[in-house]
Amino acid sequence: MSNLNPSHILQIGFGFFASKALLSAVELGLFTELSKKSMTGREIAGALGLDARAVPDFPDALVALGLLQRAGSGDGARYANTPESGMFLDRNSSDYVGGILEMANDRLYRFWADLTEALRTGMPQNETKRSGEPMFAKLYEVPERLEQFMNAMSGISAGNFRAFAQKFDFSKFGTLCDVGGATGQLSCMVAAANPHMRCTSLDLPNVVPIAIRKIAQAGLSERVTAIGGDFFADPLPRADVITMGMILHDWNLAKKKALIRKAYDALPDGGAFVVIEALIDDERRENAFGLLMSLNMLIEFGDAFDYTGADFAAWCREAGFRRFAVIPLTGPSSAAVAYK
Ligand SMILES: C[S@@+](CC[C@H](N)C(=O)[O-])C[C@H]1O[C@@H](n2cnc3c(N)ncnc32)[C@H](O)[C@@H]1O
Repeated sequence: MSNLNPSHILQIGFGFFASKALLSAVELGLFTELSKKSMTGREIAGALGLDARAVPDFPDALVALGLLQRAGSGDGARYANTPESGMFLDRNSSDYVGGILEMANDRLYRFWADLTEALRTGMPQNETKRSGEPMFAKLYEVPERLEQFMNAMSGISAGNFRAFAQKFDFSKFGTLCDVGGATGQLSCMVAAANPHMRCTSLDLPNVVPIAIRKIAQAGLSERVTAIGGDFFADPLPRADVITMGMILHDWNLAKKKALIRKAYDALPDGGAFVVIEALIDDERRENAFGLLMSLNMLIEFGDAFDYTGADFAAWCREAGFRRFAVIPLTGPSSAAVAYK
């Protein structure tokens, strides 16, 4: 008799049950409501406009998944946020990461239904699927989608940028340019943690007003500037440190190498080029999130892909960089550094 069992297989196979329960809870604002006070199932249904059938299954499933707490049982049971869901899933929390989950719910959840087609064809399965338009132009043509994408990036990147701003040794450097800097979040976190640093956040022109607003809200307009540009068409601004957060993974190998070359040209000798990504482990066996993120790049772009620290070092060596390091950040993400 074999003592093998299929539970691991079945848990992954039905992973979308759990995923969608969380994504719907974020969409409905459940964690934001519960941050005001604990609620019974009936109160939750009333506050969120749910059918009576939704309770108690929906909140109890979230309890079983470790995303809510429950005191008592039956009709009088009261549901509350866990410490993590209160901190990271309440829309009014400064640590809210739900932006990426809102985008996962609105866009990626549906696009991943076509993963098999992506695997067969190598073609994107998102909004560009039928038109073949460039991804960012298509994404940003609707202002709400641009805003949603910006919130998504802030949600997924906040922890990594905060860790990078604290762990990286900025003492020998004075200026930083964050290429594809979106809301200016990395620049703001580096400037806040390192008072001697001046930072520039470069992104496409329609992103710049959002970055200017966020930088002003952080009170950092004196040391953080947002500028518009096209990182393929224009040279990069000169800086001691060039950072790219989840930029190289958006492009194919030729474009990755073109961006690496531009970073090299913009740095002084001794300058640092830093990428922040869900860097895949060199053996390509362990970082499941990084490997799945690479499949997400297939869904979003077709020929784009994530990569290992060893891949990054090899491409950078070709461009002339001489020394390399990897700094683990949060969860599956790392900073890979190449020094000129
Ligand atoms: C995946 S997001 C990464 C945002 C941010 N660095 C982060 O890690 O959270 C990619 C960013 O690259 C920007 N971008 C795309 N094409 C660009 C181009 N040709 N020139 C400048 N920025 C571009 C997008 O607007 C977007 O903000």
